[in-house]
Amino acid sequence: MTTRRLTRIIPSIPVSDGAGVKLRRSIGQSQGLRLDPFLMLDEFASDNPDDYIAGFPPHPHRGFETVTYMLEGDFQHQDHLGNTGHLRSGGAQWMTAGRGIIHSEMPLQQSGRLHGFQFWINLPASEKMKPASYRDIEPEEIPERRIDGGRVRVIAGAFDCGDGQAIPGPIQGLSTAPLFLDLRLDAGARVSQRIEAGHNAFLYPYAGSLSVVAGGDAQPLPNRQAGVLSDGERVELEAGPDGCGVLLITARPLGEPVVQYGPFVMNTREEIEQALDDYRAGTLA
Ligand code: FE2
Repeated sequence: MTTRRLTRIIPSIPVSDGAGVKLRRSIGQSQGLRLDPFLMLDEFASDNPDDYIAGFPPHPHRGFETVTYMLEGDFQHQDHLGNTGHLRSGGAQWMTAGRGIIHSEMPLQQSGRLHGFQFWINLPASEKMKPASYRDIEPEEIPERRIDGGRVRVIAGAFDCGDGQAIPGPIQGLSTAPLFLDLRLDAGARVSQRIEAGHNAFLYPYAGSLSVVAGGDAQPLPNRQAGVLSDGERVELEAGPDGCGVLLITARPLGEPVVQYGPFVMNTREEIEQALDDYRAGTLA
């Protein structure tokens, strides 16, 4: 059984997006720093409302999925389909843009701490033009369990307990088969997790730090850096001396051409031009 190693570290860099929200972007900060099918990973973390109050006023997407996960804070999603969703501490939102969605993502708080993540997962060519859909995942829908060495919350796929038992999360059955875990590890704890061979995988420590252990080596992964893993069937993590909060995210790669223009991600230039024409004509969504 092959244990995965760290093959690349992508430090997050400060960026501004939406109407001036301050973020840290790791995956997707440039085209060469994607990890098929992941297009982007943003972390937003601030106690200062000036960093987030402007939010993300109405904007379009086509061709992929956006996943938002909130550790702390309140956001409201509204879209052209008439959906209104309240994203609150510990909750998530899984939005499939498909052929098109126009939505806003605005903070519901005027002060206090906001801490969360958004990542983008590409859709296969066969699903890029399917109807948009959207799902709010309430904090109570996300299983949170004590495990040996810490706790786990399971948003997508299933946590493998290693004894034949699994803890499934609320998101299942997507063609990229994503696994999305939020692990909180005790100081110095060692945790091993099965990962589907052939799926791409990365880690993102958002509190504390950890090491990826393989073949007698312990490769350190600092806070707020995306750690891309080699192929294999398992990953072994060792939390640093202050413990660690880390996202483990994996999915089946698509192996298709990616042509991106801002919030539109398609397979060809022509399809991007079509998306722009549709948006200008008001027929994107
Ligand atoms: Fe958006």
